Amino acid sequence: MKKTIEWTDELRYQAYAKWPADYLPNLKKQQQNSHWRLHYHIQPETGLLNDPNGFSYFDGKWHLFYQAYPYGPVHGLKSWYHLSSTNLVDWQRDQLRLLPDTSYDSHGVYSGSAIPVGDHLFLAFTGNVRDQQWARHAYQLGAWMDKDFHVTKQATPLIANPPEGYTQHFRDPQLFRYQDQYYLLIGAQTENEEGKILLYKGDTLNHWELVHEVLFSNEQMGYMIECPNLVFLEDKPVLIFCPQGLAKSTVAYQNIYPNLYITADHFDAETATLLHPSSLQNLDDGFDLYAIQAFQAPDGRVLSIGWVGLPDVSYPSDKEGWAHCLSLVRELHLIDGQLYQKPVTELALLRQAPLASHERKGEVLFQPDTNSYELEMTIPTDKQSVLTLFSSANQNKGFDLHCDAKNGMIILDRGRMAKEVNPEFGTKRSVQVSPHLPIHLRIFVDSSVCEIFINDGQKVLTSRVFPDKTDTTILLKGAQAENITLWPLRSIHLDD
Ligand code: FRU
Repeated sequence: MKKTIEWTDELRYQAYAKWPADYLPNLKKQQQNSHWRLHYHIQPETGLLNDPNGFSYFDGKWHLFYQAYPYGPVHGLKSWYHLSSTNLVDWQRDQLRLLPDTSYDSHGVYSGSAIPVGDHLFLAFTGNVRDQQWARHAYQLGAWMDKDFHVTKQATPLIANPPEGYTQHFRDPQLFRYQDQYYLLIGAQTENEEGKILLYKGDTLNHWELVHEVLFSNEQMGYMIECPNLVFLEDKPVLIFCPQGLAKSTVAYQNIYPNLYITADHFDAETATLLHPSSLQNLDDGFDLYAIQAFQAPDGRVLSIGWVGLPDVSYPSDKEGWAHCLSLVRELHLIDGQLYQKPVTELALLRQAPLASHERKGEVLFQPDTNSYELEMTIPTDKQSVLTLFSSANQNKGFDLHCDAKNGMIILDRGRMAKEVNPEFGTKRSVQVSPHLPIHLRIFVDSSVCEIFINDGQKVLTSRVFPDKTDTTILLKGAQAENITLWPLRSIHLDD
């Protein structure tokens, strides 16, 4: 019988070199044998993945890192794992490239960002340190990655302390250039335990001055803000962030922590102010999405990717020694002041020959061999339908999407799946779109993750789902949908 590991702090922060040599290969086998293993989403080979980091374009390739704890499905001693791609779809796995190996990051290389500078990629990240009393210290650090992916850390921190009045919950620097200056946005907490975002300005990468707290809302933002991220769409600033402990009267949300955004008319970098901010909006309406990172790509697009998972909750794959995945890459747009997130066009590279929907047998729309496909359809104006994914053949399990095009109401129900996932946070999620209009759906299903894009990315619902192996049936009940196409999607693993 398998031993269950007791994840004490001591074990979670144990040096990587102390683990037995056969430990990771055994863990890797468990993940490879899992029917929840993903075909075309980025996932850890072993252990836990969380935030995407350093999403960038450098030396003719897309680069992406993620927060990795390789030794188990828990938050332990973190590193940055590196991948690169020429098409945003097929990712070459590289290796851990930023490791917790200095006195400024001895207890974890935490989240951050990257921009190309000269012939290197500059990485800005948080070093997490625990002292003898287990008190937290946060350092904002820098490192250079060359074209062969060798990383050299800078000897001294970019910012060695939070400013006066703020605690050591000070992390996740987003480095960007704006009006010929470097800027860092950093997640922070005041001594009164209020979540804030701080803006620093740098005339060089090694000389940083605090501008101010970012002013974007009169509401209190819970006790901490993680992963702040500013991008510009149609010249308008869009601020993305993850508040923890936010009052539900401020924004309605059901997940343990939300990922929010606001848009504004202008960003005044002198005063760290977002002028005429919109109300706070949920970035994703599904069950599991956090720590979205976006950046301005050199081809003019603003691209994003998120962690499909949440802090402080557990998932069924934990039992197999691995946890979480990243979302697909999305392209962000601002349409009539509203943020749209579209799956990146390159995803069409995954499509195989489509299945014909005239094979439909009653309510059974398709019966693919595996849960690895893209499904597109339109629910006509004023019609109501229920689409069930991951259904068992006897139809008593499934993931139900109720679409009401009359009232513009969409409800996603995870309560009939083979495995429960954090039911204490509710088993339903809903979104409202315009009534009396067709509802267009583009859905990406991949073993144990489902991304639903409504009306070209006007709303997105991203969720983990844990079906039984044979739960691949797709049902459609109620009104006939139009323009139904299913493309099986190929794997991005070379060994599949
Ligand atoms: C968000 C987060 C970040 C931190 C990282 C540590 O999920 O808590 O604030 O840098 O994860 O892995």
